[in-house]
Amino acid sequence: MAACSGVIGVFDSGVGGLSVLRHIRQTLPDERLIYVADSGHVPYGDKPANYIEQRSLTLARFLVEQGADALVVACNTATAAAAASLRSRFGIPVIGMEPAVKPAVAATSSGVVGVLATVGTLESARFAALLEKYAGEVEIVTQGCPGLVEQVELGELHGARTRELIERYTAPLLARGADTLILGCTHYPFLIPLIRDTAGEDIVLIDTGAAVARQLQRRIHEELPERKAGGASVQFFTSGDAAQASRIMSVLWGSVEAKRLPPAFL
Ligand code: DGL
Repeated sequence: MAACSGVIGVFDSGVGGLSVLRHIRQTLPDERLIYVADSGHVPYGDKPANYIEQRSLTLARFLVEQGADALVVACNTATAAAAASLRSRFGIPVIGMEPAVKPAVAATSSGVVGVLATVGTLESARFAALLEKYAGEVEIVTQGCPGLVEQVELGELHGARTRELIERYTAPLLARGADTLILGCTHYPFLIPLIRDTAGEDIVLIDTGAAVARQLQRRIHEELPERKAGGASVQFFTSGDAAQASRIMSVLWGSVEAKRLPPAFL
């Protein structure tokens, strides 16, 4: 392990984790950040948990070799499948993410909360445990959203196909009386304008990016007190096509030149 080298490693199945990275950048502006999009293997949502676990371990190994002394799993699906293995394999802080059931339960007035997430997240034991712990009297209605991640990966944030999928996935939740929707996948914050357009301006949308950034800050402070930030910068890698990843990331982030991962990590 490269101890306290001042690099924070962040990964996702694709570009969704950029919605978390922007909060990390805001909260910890002096950090050296390395982001990996597993674009060669996206989406994770319909893949077996052990496949996602192996990919997560591979990406984490790359990030640790680059000097990461803290890891952010900017993906709900990968957190459900791999957080425990990552924590036992790498002796550094690993910050994962999960659908924000607790704040959503606190926010709802109608007593019905909808969860938009990948099928992998919704079927995970981790998600079942979250509901058990925090749902209480609130009715939680879940909706898997096949195809939505792919639209974000194409940079299609406003088109007719994306709108059609959002209408299809939010309609049953709204019909059940949900006044609060959990964005349980890091790709979905990029679709907030379209979700609001579909579900109405009054809908409460719960995203966890800011909370994850605060948790990262706290964990670094508590667990690596001697650590110095590596210097304000962000580097981007992809397991897919570098030109294609650069193009989409530039839409979502602003001028990005992504590099392709070395063959051993593809
Ligand atoms: N962005 C991811 C998540 O938060 C995964 C999406 C996918 O690849 O299916 O769940």
